[in-house]
Amino acid sequence: MIRKGILLAGGSGTRLHPTTQATSKQLLPVYDKPMVYYPLSTLLLAGIREVLVISTPADLPQFQRLFHDGSHLGIRISYAEQAKPEGIAQAFLIGEAWIAGEACALALGDNLIHGDHLSTLLRAASARPEGATVFAYQVRDPERYGVVSFGADGKAIDIVEKPVKPESNWAVTGLYFYDKRITEIAKKITPSARGELEITDINHWYLNEGSLHVERLGRGTAWLDAGTPDSLLQAATFVQTIQLRQGNLVGSPEEIAFRMKYIDADALRSCAKLIGKTELGRILNDIADGTHL
Ligand code: G1P
Repeated sequence: MIRKGILLAGGSGTRLHPTTQATSKQLLPVYDKPMVYYPLSTLLLAGIREVLVISTPADLPQFQRLFHDGSHLGIRISYAEQAKPEGIAQAFLIGEAWIAGEACALALGDNLIHGDHLSTLLRAASARPEGATVFAYQVRDPERYGVVSFGADGKAIDIVEKPVKPESNWAVTGLYFYDKRITEIAKKITPSARGELEITDINHWYLNEGSLHVERLGRGTAWLDAGTPDSLLQAATFVQTIQLRQGNLVGSPEEIAFRMKYIDADALRSCAKLIGKTELGRILNDIADGTHL
């Protein structure tokens, strides 16, 4: 099982200016919690308990204020700076010492994935000893993303970053699982035309080797990113709709840590206390008391 995961929350969030001129995109609210809670929840669901948060030198202290050392969630959170936005794949170079030659997952700080059986898929990806796993999702605007195309046998045949003419509508989501060679592979790739170390080039490397697993997320799963005013609002409305309709939480690392038995009921109550007299705090207390739903 993969023990470590990087949570990348860098970038300048230009598509959300002026909102992100003075704050980190990944700390903006998606309904009732900061955006970064959602990808952190995904990493926890995958069984990951060692997390490295990477952000800009200006924003990193805010993440430290939010998560501290992670012990309230029964996990370990470390921090590292990305001085310049030189690409997603740079995360593995920045994190080299922390990764220490182990396998490592990566979650982008603005990606939200929600759906049935997700933890089963995540655990299967985490359990794969060799190669890489990425997740693909059908979208109407694939040209905004890394796009994977499939052959007649259903196997991935190509993966292209932001193609002008996409070969399919399967976008690669911002959640990746790599084997222990990841840092060495990240060192091999060179900056793209936009001057970034592209995560797509890493995925391409595994694809060429024949060890890239592409897991297709079905129609019952929601994958949202929150990098523009519209997608941010849509993500918030999505979370609001599910939570108010079902009473279940979406993207609560506190709840997941409790359900995964990383923390006990008292520790969950302490998390709820920090959150205060909000609906979220109330629900967490009810979960701790066993009186929720
Ligand atoms: C990045 C990746 C892209 C991926 C997307 C998912 O795009 O480069 O392959 O599909 O995240 O959110 P960017 O956020 O850099 O535009």
